[in-house]
Amino acid sequence: MRLLVTGGAGFIGSNFVHHVIEHTDHTVTVLDALTYAGNRASLAGLPADRVELVVGNILDAALVDDLIAEHDAVVHYAAESHNDNSLHDPRPFLDTNIVGTYTLIEAARRHGTRFHHISTDEVYGDLELDDPARFTESTPYNPSSPYSSTKAGSDLLVRAWVRSFGLQATISNCSNNYGPYQHVEKFIPRQITNVLTGERPKLYGAGLNVRDWIHADDHSSAVLTILQSGVIGETYLIGADGEKDNKSVVERILTLCGQPSDAYDHVVDRPGHDLRYAIDSTKLRTELGWLPRYSDFDGGLAATIEWYRNNEAWWRPQKAATEARYTAQGQ
Ligand code: NAD
Ligand code: TYD
Repeated sequence: MRLLVTGGAGFIGSNFVHHVIEHTDHTVTVLDALTYAGNRASLAGLPADRVELVVGNILDAALVDDLIAEHDAVVHYAAESHNDNSLHDPRPFLDTNIVGTYTLIEAARRHGTRFHHISTDEVYGDLELDDPARFTESTPYNPSSPYSSTKAGSDLLVRAWVRSFGLQATISNCSNNYGPYQHVEKFIPRQITNVLTGERPKLYGAGLNVRDWIHADDHSSAVLTILQSGVIGETYLIGADGEKDNKSVVERILTLCGQPSDAYDHVVDRPGHDLRYAIDSTKLRTELGWLPRYSDFDGGLAATIEWYRNNEAWWRPQKAATEARYTAQGQ
């Protein structure tokens, strides 16, 4: 297959491109605007005869139409992806996440092209800490932030295009990812690179919020499974039973880096901060036979720390500006 991967120079998209090259014979065109979150270096070392980077915007309808006409399937990762940024400047989230998705699905329906839409469990809002419930495909949408509401909007567009126009689409909603190539603005890489640069990790509020961590490579294998065997019109939740509170994650990072586990600071909490996310991925596991490979969070975290230790040239240029932005916000 010839795959068009939007946002393929970002964190999860680039992990997907590496995964596809290693595990399939597909060729990949990455369409990426190289915003602050995109990085050419995340695609370094991939075979030039199988991976091409087109620097362009998913809002560019003519470019999108031309590219979709030449491909067998689209995997749509491109997004504004950081909650904290969405609280300070929501507009790019509306443009890229909603109008960008609209631009892609219009072209995909014109060409009858298979489309897979990447989304987040944050569209479901949050759960109480002591609630035994987890999100399933039938949980009502209840997003909290500008980021998650624009992702929810994009999911609903895709669903409507399937029903109204017969778009050949599937959707997946995944929990929080960790792994290599993640921007230092995000929780885990921010704390790892803080420790590596002699700064103390920064925990929002009391740090009791729970996220359901999955390694980005497991997200990639799930997306490939859905692309190959998913049923058109269906939504699949992707998760690896990785619930952890933020405080425990910071403590693990410090311990794995050989520091005292309490060497972190509490900082101003995020407004509207979702308490807990948790995914029930039974449908994906039973209907499509998918299983995560990284069941050991500590092992995956240790490998991720090692990656940031060995790839300072990749993250160093973004670190100072990212921390300056957080400092201005009291975080
Ligand atoms: P990211 O911010 O690391 O990467 C986003 C990529 O999209 C960047 O390369 C950026 O340059 C590109 N991009 C942004 N706007 C664009 C535009 N208008 N045109 C073309 N390219 C554009 O994000 P990520 O964490 O890799 O997330 C990728 C997708 O996965 C998003 O759709 C996100 O909602 C979803 N998701 C993320 C997580 C997570 O834990 N990070 C979890 C579940 C789902
Ligand atoms: P983040 O990586 O921004 O992902 P999301 O908002 O999509 O869950 O944050 C993960 C969790 O970590 C979230 O509860 C907010 C918290 N957090 C901190 O405690 N400190 C930080 O410096 C950051 C960036 C996040």
